[in-house]
Amino acid sequence: MINEDLIIDISTLSEWLREKRPVTVLDVRPLEQRQEWAITGSVHADIYDKLKNGDQCAFDGVPLNVDQPIVTVCAAGKTSLIAAKLLKQKGYSVYSLRGGMKEWNFAFDTAEIVLHGIKIIQVRRSSKGVLSYIIGSNGEAIVIDAALDPQVYLDLAEVNGWSIKFVTDTHIHADYLSRTRELAEVSKATHLLISNAGVTYPFTPIKHGDMLSVGNAFIEVIYSPGHTLESTSFKLGEDAVLTGDTLFIDGVGRPDLKANTDEVIARAKLLYHSIQKLLSLTPDILVLPAHLATTVRLDGMLIAASLKSLKDKLQMLKLAEEEFVDYTRSRIPPTPPNYLTIATLNKQGSYEGYNSADLEAGANRCAIA
Ligand SMILES: [Fe+2]
Repeated sequence: MINEDLIIDISTLSEWLREKRPVTVLDVRPLEQRQEWAITGSVHADIYDKLKNGDQCAFDGVPLNVDQPIVTVCAAGKTSLIAAKLLKQKGYSVYSLRGGMKEWNFAFDTAEIVLHGIKIIQVRRSSKGVLSYIIGSNGEAIVIDAALDPQVYLDLAEVNGWSIKFVTDTHIHADYLSRTRELAEVSKATHLLISNAGVTYPFTPIKHGDMLSVGNAFIEVIYSPGHTLESTSFKLGEDAVLTGDTLFIDGVGRPDLKANTDEVIARAKLLYHSIQKLLSLTPDILVLPAHLATTVRLDGMLIAASLKSLKDKLQMLKLAEEEFVDYTRSRIPPTPPNYLTIATLNKQGSYEGYNSADLEAGANRCAIA
C-alpha cells in the first residue's frame, strides 16, 4: 500500500526548488546511476543495497539535516519510498519523489525576457538541460524546439494572449523526443523546417535568409549546419539569436552523431563555418541555445549570454579551422542513450508505442566544452 502522505510529485518539488525552500533532496540510487544524471543540488547516500535488503540501520552514519524536509529520490520511486518510510520512523519530515528520476525527466521551469516589445520565454527541462522557446508579439507566437507536452506551450500562449502561428525545430534532435509535430497538430500552427530536414512527414520548408513574421517580430532563418546537416538558427532582429545545438553558452554542438570518421571531419568543418557566421553577428546580440551542457537549476534565470562574452570566454571559438576540427574531434563525449531510436522517431514525427520517459532517461551529452 502506498502512503500518499509520504509522496511528493515533480511539480511540487520543482516549485519548492524554484522558491528556494529549504529542502534536502536525497538521492538513494547506486553511485553509477547518480553519476549518469542527478537532480541539481541533490545529495547522495550510497545505501541502495541496504534499503533493498530491508536494513533498518541503512541510514546509520548518513549525515542529514533535521531542520528541513527531506525528499528521497531513486530511479522510479520504489526504493525512495522504502527510504522515506525508514526516515519517517526516525522522526524526519520526509517525502518520496513519485516516479523518481523517470518522472523528473519532465520537470521544468520558465524564464523570460522582453526585447524591444517582443517576449521570449525559455522553457527549460531541468534533467537534460533542454531549452525550448516560445516567442510572442501582438497576438502571435512561434514555438521552437518544443520538448514538453504540447499543453505547456498552449498554456503559455494562452496566458500571453498569443495564438501559435509557427512551430519548428532547430534540427532533428537525437537526445529527446521533439513534441513539435504534436504541437503543430493540436495548435493548427504551420510546421516549418529547413528544406533538407529529411523527415518523412509533411512540413512547410524554409531556407537560409527567409524572414518569419510573428506579430511585430521578424525572425530570420540562418542555416548553420555542422552539429547536424539540417541545423538552423533563428535571429530576432539584432537582439537575440536562437543557436540550437550549434553554439552553446558553454561550448559547441558535437558533430559526430550518426557519422563515420570522414563525415565527422566534414561536419566539424561545417560547424566551424557556421560558428564563424554566428560570430559575425552584432557583438551585443543575445545567444539563446537549445541546451546547457549540464542540468538546469530551476531558478527562473534566463540561460543566455552575449555573443561578445562568449567570444571572450570560449577559447575554442578563437581556433583556426584545422585546430577547431582537431579540438572538437578530441573532445567528443560518449553518445547519448538511445540516440539512434530517438533520431529515427523524430524523423518519423511520432513516438507512438514508445515510453518517452524510458527513451529520454539519462545524461545530457550534446555539447563539446
Ligand atoms: Fe542536438
